[in-house]
Amino acid sequence: KILILDFGSQYTQLIARAVREANVYCEITPYHKPIVKDEFLKGIILSGSPFSVNDANAPFVDVELLTKSLPVLGICYGAQLTAKQLGGRVEKSEKREYGRATLRKKEDDVLLKDVSDVSQVWMSHADTILELPKGFELMAVTDSIPIAAFRANGSYDHPLYGLQFHPEVYHSTEGKKILKNFLMDICGCKGEWTPASFVNETVDALKKQIGNRKVIMALSGGVDSTVAATLIHRAIGKNLFGIFVDNGVLRKDEFQQVLDTYATIGLNVKGVDAREHFYTKLAGKSNPEEKRKIIGGTFIEVFDREAHTIEGVELLGQGTIYPDVIESVSVHGPSVTIKSHHNVGGLPDTMKLELVEPLRYLFKDEVRRVGAELGIPADLLNRHPFPGPGLAIRILGEITEEKVDLLQRADAIFINGLKEHNLYDKVWQAGAILLPVQSVGVMGDERTYEFTLALRAVTSVDGMTADWAHLPYEFLAHISNEIINKVRGINRVVYDISSKPPATIEWE
Ligand code: XMP
Repeated sequence: KILILDFGSQYTQLIARAVREANVYCEITPYHKPIVKDEFLKGIILSGSPFSVNDANAPFVDVELLTKSLPVLGICYGAQLTAKQLGGRVEKSEKREYGRATLRKKEDDVLLKDVSDVSQVWMSHADTILELPKGFELMAVTDSIPIAAFRANGSYDHPLYGLQFHPEVYHSTEGKKILKNFLMDICGCKGEWTPASFVNETVDALKKQIGNRKVIMALSGGVDSTVAATLIHRAIGKNLFGIFVDNGVLRKDEFQQVLDTYATIGLNVKGVDAREHFYTKLAGKSNPEEKRKIIGGTFIEVFDREAHTIEGVELLGQGTIYPDVIESVSVHGPSVTIKSHHNVGGLPDTMKLELVEPLRYLFKDEVRRVGAELGIPADLLNRHPFPGPGLAIRILGEITEEKVDLLQRADAIFINGLKEHNLYDKVWQAGAILLPVQSVGVMGDERTYEFTLALRAVTSVDGMTADWAHLPYEFLAHISNEIINKVRGINRVVYDISSKPPATIEWE
């Protein structure tokens, strides 16, 4: 295992992902948290930071102390902190250096093994290391900075390295190789952390945690809850009680399709048709926040009721993933913010259950790989994200069964069209939005006065920022035609060309 000490860099999660791509397990921890050493911990990486090491409130760790027990690699701020603390000089540079730079190797150290003599790296820093501490060796430069990579000489207990550039980002073309050298050759990691080993270890750990107790879990048809449930199922079989609620605002035929998939996987899941209950509660409500609260609250009610029909449940399974729980260092302070996230609207207060969260340390793409290892069908693993409040936040204004039906049919034409034209996997998320706007049209000789439908498709990495997908005009024309001809009640289709920010992905 590798520990990444976070100093608040926007790239810290990328370091973690790069380490894991090398099949080495790692965790991110705020730099000021005490380090718990165990036999599995093999090395430490210090992240970048928006701070300058010369700031009065610059985040600090004792690098010399760290090297007493483990190899250390400092990246950007981590490298500057190392250099300054051990006697070097770091100053604000005259030229800030952002973006591409050309790395020139000066020395063939094991960290730069197999790296080309000249390679492209990515820089993002305002300070520069001007002098190394005594006895440190220079390993590489770029055209604009004198010290781009360095190592300490043998006077420390363990190897100590610094890189001014960011090996973790995509544009550092040989960065992954450098990280891998650090992990394998310097820290002695074996690279044995794979989806298969994760499944084995997790199933063993779940068996230990759960024993012969019962676990209840809400499933949503999404990737995270399905993979989490499948792992728990592997560990305890029929003692996992899954519940999948039809809240009336799922996609067309989704309830049955998802239940069928669960049956194929062998999960013990009860489908609960609560459509009427949700429609009654939603009747007459048009405020987006109110709709969200009603869906969340009603869900808990239904789930709670179902849970009480199963005797002696002690644990609650959840599909929480790593980005939901990473403690990150805030740039406004250095204080700590913790995001807590409940996919299904939070825990019922009345149920004091122990949590089972087998995906708590995985990134989304790792969840997909574990899912594939578990034999979960690819179409489920590659599904677009779908919001908990479902179509309720894609029907602007009041929700009625008729509107749900209209939107379900139009949305299905759009989504199936994307799949048929091999566009589904090229966009990050797509869906249709029913607007509370009627307009005049003409069909045959008849005047129509019907609803407007907006199509939304975006490209994104994590949903935090997004661009509208540049779908082919011919495709949009085809879908528009299909919808207007087949869905009576919609006579106009528009395409949303807003990015996030300033817009959001969903309209409510
Ligand atoms: P926005 O609209 O904020 O959406 O740009 C970003 C991502 O989050 C999803 N989303 C939700 N997911 N409950 C959820 O589980 C919600 O209330 C919710 N609101 C938005 C949205 O679909 C997109 O993927």
